[in-house]
Amino acid sequence: MKFNHRTHTCGELREENIGSHVVLNGWVSIRRDLGGVIFIDLRDRYGITQVVFEPHYNLDAHELGKKLRSEFVVSIEGNVRKRPEGTENALLPTGNIDVMVDKLIILNHAETPPFPIEESIDVSEDTRLKYRYLDLRRPKMQRNMILRHKLYQSARRYFDAMDFIEIETPVLMKSTPEGARDFIVPSRMHKGKFYALPQSPQQYKQLLMVSGFDRYFQIVKCFRDEDLRADRQPEFTQIDLEMSFVDVDDVFVIMEGLMKQLFKELKGYDIELPLKRLSYEEAMERYGSDKPDLRFGLEMVTLNDVFANAEFRVFKDALNSNGIITGLLAKGCGEYTRNQLDVLTDFAKKHGAGGLIWMRVKENDLEAPIAKFLSDDEKKGIIEKLGAEQGDLLFMLTGLKTKTLNIMGHLRLEMARRLELIKPDAKPALLWVTEFPLFEWDEETGRYYAMHHPFTAPRVEDEQYMESDPARVYARAYDLVLDGNEIAGGSIRIHNSELQAKMFKALGISDEEAQEKFGFLMNAFKYGAPPHGGMAFGLDRLSMLFSGESSIRDVIAFPKTSSGTSLMDESPSHVDEHQLKELHIKLR
Ligand code: AMO
Repeated sequence: MKFNHRTHTCGELREENIGSHVVLNGWVSIRRDLGGVIFIDLRDRYGITQVVFEPHYNLDAHELGKKLRSEFVVSIEGNVRKRPEGTENALLPTGNIDVMVDKLIILNHAETPPFPIEESIDVSEDTRLKYRYLDLRRPKMQRNMILRHKLYQSARRYFDAMDFIEIETPVLMKSTPEGARDFIVPSRMHKGKFYALPQSPQQYKQLLMVSGFDRYFQIVKCFRDEDLRADRQPEFTQIDLEMSFVDVDDVFVIMEGLMKQLFKELKGYDIELPLKRLSYEEAMERYGSDKPDLRFGLEMVTLNDVFANAEFRVFKDALNSNGIITGLLAKGCGEYTRNQLDVLTDFAKKHGAGGLIWMRVKENDLEAPIAKFLSDDEKKGIIEKLGAEQGDLLFMLTGLKTKTLNIMGHLRLEMARRLELIKPDAKPALLWVTEFPLFEWDEETGRYYAMHHPFTAPRVEDEQYMESDPARVYARAYDLVLDGNEIAGGSIRIHNSELQAKMFKALGISDEEAQEKFGFLMNAFKYGAPPHGGMAFGLDRLSMLFSGESSIRDVIAFPKTSSGTSLMDESPSHVDEHQLKELHIKLR
């Protein structure tokens, strides 16, 4: 079949092209047969152009045009004309012209697609994922992919201009503990041995600092076998960077510069620098989250002071066991019905609360089931601290600090949703969360875990407590948060083998285990490791937020479902007995 090269794309022709003879290639988007005249919306990734088959203009082309159906691939040749008065389409950039066809070549037929290739469609995500190659034809998905492409290009330009070097690191490696489960790959040549897919290139980038590369970055696939959510995939992409001879502020300057460029180039938006910073403690107490959404206020307030002399058992117990009493004011919600309050109580319980205390604010008083247990001073204190006024509703939760603040944080987001506090045109809320604890206690296993990862340096002044009182050690770690999403995380690293050994010890990792798992890194540190630190961006999350999507699946060309499967190629799948045998694997 002869192939006619296009002279223009389907998004290109304008009034100045009227009168020219053109060739367009593309897909049949919409076909209308109006009393003998056939109109086709011809689509490619650049846009849509209307092409017209008229029997009086060209009988042969019109005859062939009758055969066209949705998604046929065609090449047309014809003359650009001004659309007849009254038939212009102001919504299309090409809407003032159309092309009168004098030659049509059908390059390929197409079966009727399982869903229309349109901007918004009403079809299950499973169907979209099964036919992802068609889903990706939709203008919205094409825009998302193009935005993601621009993000890569902008990031690469930025880092190159800043003297960063892009270096690839292995995909088959020894497992890096980043807190998730590894995907492992059996070795054929080494019976019974396995590679792991990197959860991140963390150890390699630190080794590159030992090698003297000074400023490294990489746009890199990472793999984590963890429970998936709207903002998590088993394989995802990071913009990973590491720098030598730096402290926290130096990393911030580089990252803030990148954010400024990305916002400017992708959104045309000027962000103000330096970015706001919140300590982890403050973020937790005021917003109940280490990734607070600051697009709206609705701040939580710690009420421990108010109840310093509490008689009421629930509060007294909480204070005696170092717990917290936190409050949230819902302005103007005093008329919430019992049913609405029950729904919110269930919401809090679903997130782990024993119950939810609520009170309606009356003139100088509080009305609630628990009001009778509160002294007048306490009531007054609550009203004052929360700035409550008649007609308001307030919530209180009490219990173990982190857990209680977390639950109230969820309730804060839920109330913001109910009260529609997040406006569609809200300014992007970008901030640093800093001063994380170095360790996190896990009730289930009864041991400490690294809150960030085991290579994160403690604050210098806290090093002395690493063994005696791990809970009071803070990390030189930081997260970058955008609109309530953690978009990046990083830290200044430990760069000497003794401190690294101390860290492993605090985490309950024996010398032998440390040697076996991280011996290469600890050894490298013996040969002159510079002080270093870095960070990694979740590129999928960033693309999602820039695209205004609410799932990272919508910015990944071929994502997995929330149960980790690919509906299109049906992976994971069984493999041949022969393949298993070669890998020395027997299935039970
Ligand atoms: P961290 O584990 O915080 O840090 O990951 C960095 C960023 O990657 C994104 N992210 C994910 N995105 C999609 N799906 C996932 N499953 C997923 N997991 C993480 C998040 C997160 O902020 N090595 C360190 C970085 C460092 O210390 O330099 C690391 O990987 O946006």
